[in-house]
Amino acid sequence: MKRILLVVATIFAIACTEQRASISGAAIIPQPLSITEHQNAFELSDKTVLVCDAEELAPIVAYAREYLAVGSTAKVAPSTNYISFALDASLAEEEYRLSVSHDAVQIVGGGYGGVFNGVQTLFQLLPSEVYTKQMPLPAKVLGCNVADKPKFAYRGFMLDVARTFIEKDNVLRYIDYLAYHKINKLHWHLVDNQGWRVEIKAHPDLARVAGFRGGDSPLRSTLGKWNEKYGGYYTQEEIREVVAYAAVRNIEIIPEIDLPGHSEALLRIYPNMLCNYTNTDLDINGNYDNRNVVCATKESNYRILEEILSEVCALFPSEHFHIGGDEVNMSQWKRCPDCLAWLKKRGYTDGYKLEDMFIGRIQTILAKYGKKPSVWNEAAFGGGLSKDAWVHGWKSPKICKQVMAKGYPTIFMPQQFFYFDMRQSEREPGAVWGGCFDVRKVYSFDFAKEGFTAEEVAQVKGFEAAAWSEAFLSQGGDTSIDFIEYQTFPRICALAEHCWGKNGGGEWEEFHNRLYSCHYDRMADMGINFRITPPEVKYENGLLSVLKIDNGTLYYREDGSSRVCKYSRPIKTSTPGKFLFWSEYRDHISPEVAHASRYETIKPKFTLTSSMPENAKYGYDKVMSYKSEARTARACVKGDWFLYEFDEPLECRAVEFYAGYFAMPSRSFPSGYIEISEDGKNFERVADLKDGKILLENPRPIKAARLVSEGALIGTSSVRFIAPKIYPKW
Ligand code: ACM
Ligand code: ZN
Repeated sequence: MKRILLVVATIFAIACTEQRASISGAAIIPQPLSITEHQNAFELSDKTVLVCDAEELAPIVAYAREYLAVGSTAKVAPSTNYISFALDASLAEEEYRLSVSHDAVQIVGGGYGGVFNGVQTLFQLLPSEVYTKQMPLPAKVLGCNVADKPKFAYRGFMLDVARTFIEKDNVLRYIDYLAYHKINKLHWHLVDNQGWRVEIKAHPDLARVAGFRGGDSPLRSTLGKWNEKYGGYYTQEEIREVVAYAAVRNIEIIPEIDLPGHSEALLRIYPNMLCNYTNTDLDINGNYDNRNVVCATKESNYRILEEILSEVCALFPSEHFHIGGDEVNMSQWKRCPDCLAWLKKRGYTDGYKLEDMFIGRIQTILAKYGKKPSVWNEAAFGGGLSKDAWVHGWKSPKICKQVMAKGYPTIFMPQQFFYFDMRQSEREPGAVWGGCFDVRKVYSFDFAKEGFTAEEVAQVKGFEAAAWSEAFLSQGGDTSIDFIEYQTFPRICALAEHCWGKNGGGEWEEFHNRLYSCHYDRMADMGINFRITPPEVKYENGLLSVLKIDNGTLYYREDGSSRVCKYSRPIKTSTPGKFLFWSEYRDHISPEVAHASRYETIKPKFTLTSSMPENAKYGYDKVMSYKSEARTARACVKGDWFLYEFDEPLECRAVEFYAGYFAMPSRSFPSGYIEISEDGKNFERVADLKDGKILLENPRPIKAARLVSEGALIGTSSVRFIAPKIYPKW
């Protein structure tokens, strides 16, 4: 099997490089339903005419012309050398036929979306330079007939611009990337605890003030950067521009105003919308009240919410409007005399009854403005949500199944497969709580393996992936758009295949071949900062080798040397862990990988003390025993410290100390430094902490190490951290 696949891979590679004019149709992503190839290729030249007499397709023709850079447009086809765009009412809305012959390329779609899908397939039949809008002409289009349609009507991606603000131009760029992959819904997460990103004319402070956090904003910086005010928002004019840009690209934008939880940004501007009780220690951290749930029983809240929602409804033509409903901290309602009285009067104790009532009220407001609700899965279990709501199943496949059993059109996005903010391998940046997976696991999602029947699958509305952006600023640095691209591509390619119905046979190797043989080039020319799959390392009989698993070039370097070498044959060594390998393709570089021995650590005994008391459940013994994370019993302030005292002076090739937990940037020392002592008495400051941690390479013997905080944590009640990682001398 492997051998056959390798041969297939080679053919793809040849098709995409040496004979770029005749790319195999089989290498399209997402794979079309049916494609038959023939010998009559079309030659695109600057004389090619774009032909269309359907008024509503004019935006597609203009869009295609930008990429193809061909000559004129016409309503009537010449005898030869044209690309035509037409509608055929016998096809479904997003269905299309694409036929390429010597004389013409003809694209016929059931509706606007169908024709647009046909254009994207045409792009993938051309050299990848088409995406640069500077493709050299003439260019050949493979002779073929394609009959194609998506399996799922909802093919979505969720962009969280609340935690990390993404500039309008970058959103537009991202919309292009989605369109190239036939994704047709952008779920735009516009507000959350960390920011309000849409201008509301009746309540201007929401964006003007709560669009920024840190500094003098009432919205404190609990994630991301610590010491500066930063953020941004979109004016209504800009929102309209984005909506129109997306519509040309067959993408409908579904806005989300996340309620009644995740509402810190709203509530810092309007504290009267909180529940009616005096805040307690439970709500306050570092003098900052971080309650984030809108009171469900204050009548005035619904008036303000209607003023806000009515403006947002008017900006988005989408019939659906996402109103959140996830992760509501019910303890706030349960301490509110008004919310409690509402429950008591009806004989309820369950806070979800209040959520149900709240969602029902918002649903009624939306209906006034012609909208139907979309919600996160938590909001589907109270019984009151109308059956025309779309439910986004994020928790797990099992929860999606339960939502479907209630009869809701369900959008599949279980975090374990479709939260693309999760890190892609153990040593790469990203969130950790939902899993650690790359494109291969995304591709492996299988309804049958998850226990879904064919009848259940028929009830699935579609798929969506999410890029939550909590960790983007703290882990992706200031180039956050590059980091989002790295986190989401090529995982979006696998998402696109699921959305389309995975017509490529379902085998990873087959999809992976399509991906690296042709789609790496396309993504590079699209301008995407995508992740390429790292090679695999093997060590046997003293020989260290790497397995090339895509068409990148392999490189390595050895500890102690700055020389970068091209890998050509196995390396004879007794210390395989000293070598780091990676793959490069054009200007894209895979993560570095090494033999497992590089990551082996030792666990020498030490005592940990701190200026901060320990959490009763996650005490410092958890770290001293190298078992799991520990927590302090309060947030740190300036001058707080952790002291590690080793039983024997520590000798190692490297050690990483933590005053925080990389997956939880909000729980780390905001800034600080490390002091080292060789005798346990005299300390010397040797380095600053970065993101709550510090790696010391080839340190002198360490008897004690003290990590000192130079800032105060806000909006949390603990520092969470793990044991030092100590790498033995070779
Ligand atoms: C979610 O991840 N809270 C929808
Ligand atoms: Zn209340």
